[in-house]
Amino acid sequence: MGNIFSDRISDVPRSFIREILKVAVDESIISFAGGLPNRDLFPLQEIKAATAKLLEESGKDVLQYSSSEGYPALREWISGRYAAKGMEVSPDNILITSGSQQGLDLLGKTILNEGDSVVIEEPGYLGAIQAFSIYRSTFHPIPLHPDGIDLQLLEQAVSRNTIKLMYCVPNFQNPSGISYSEENRRGVADILQGRKTLLVEDDPYGELRFLGQDKPSFHTLMPDNTVLLGSFSKIVIPSFRIGWIAARPEIMEKLVIAKQASDLHTNYFGQRIILQYLRDNDIDGHIRTIREAYGRQRAAMVSAIREHFPPDTYYTEPEGGMFLWITLPEGMSAMELFRRAIEQKVAFVPGDPFYVNKKDVNTLRLNYSSVDEETIRIGIKRLGDVLKGMPR
Ligand SMILES: Cc1ncc(COP(=O)(O)O)c(C=O)c1O
Repeated sequence: MGNIFSDRISDVPRSFIREILKVAVDESIISFAGGLPNRDLFPLQEIKAATAKLLEESGKDVLQYSSSEGYPALREWISGRYAAKGMEVSPDNILITSGSQQGLDLLGKTILNEGDSVVIEEPGYLGAIQAFSIYRSTFHPIPLHPDGIDLQLLEQAVSRNTIKLMYCVPNFQNPSGISYSEENRRGVADILQGRKTLLVEDDPYGELRFLGQDKPSFHTLMPDNTVLLGSFSKIVIPSFRIGWIAARPEIMEKLVIAKQASDLHTNYFGQRIILQYLRDNDIDGHIRTIREAYGRQRAAMVSAIREHFPPDTYYTEPEGGMFLWITLPEGMSAMELFRRAIEQKVAFVPGDPFYVNKKDVNTLRLNYSSVDEETIRIGIKRLGDVLKGMPR
């Protein structure tokens, strides 16, 4: 049989992380490679109670098809949460999606023609690179610094090219853990001012701040040009696959068409359970618990890195979220470190897949949310020992 596959899918590589994680399935491996929330914090009993109550009170109603935009009361809840933060997002402008990952796919479908230019962060979120690659976009990666995106290179990219879409994760970015300072955000807004570029602000981690102060959202700084993505994956549970897009009405209209073509609507039963859970429980208390735990896990990782890694290793110091980014001494290969580390039963994600046009880089991602503090200390010491034997 000849090649039956579309050019679209043939050009997109398999998720490199999934390939890498196949090597790390051995249970004795300490893995900083995943991107998972801490399962010990999943509200199991509360989800169980919400599900039972819902079935008891609403019966077969919750088992039926529903609207493409999403359950109205859940959209109102999300709108109310934004309002509490001083952000104005009407429930009518919220589309419930199958995770924020589907939001990226729907945006690609709605906005991108083949060859359209997209600004992404370098390093960038792999799921966005994959989602937009399907629509055959041309990427313009802009480096991240400890306080945000490189404004000079962003200015250059938007003045030399017609950038259709800029994708960013300004809070506790995946993979780097970096957050944009307020000044950096204002700088981005100034650069995009008066241009047609649509800014996609992906914010699955914004509520998970354990240090510092919240910064203004792009949705506040430039409401007309910003599409905001949110998710329940990191603050409640990821398995329901429930997230949302907030967009202005004419974009919403097209996104709803794309959504209908994809899956008619997001899992309705899941939407109802999440809302029941949110109504019956103290979500702020729950988020506080997650923040405190991740804050402790991050602190354990940073202090172990200080103790065991060579002094010329650079690491980011995230104020929230789940990841930390390491830059190894110049000339050291993160891939080679990975091969050696697996033999010593410790795993991480080498930086390569987070770049669209660089290979064999000296950077890597460490996840601290899904590993307990004691195991973090053991794993980082092991990694430090491997590092000490690495060729320079
Ligand atoms: C930056 C970013 N965006 C989106 C997602 C996807 O999240 P969801 O579970 O809402 O689809 C992730 C998940 O890791 C992420 O890190």
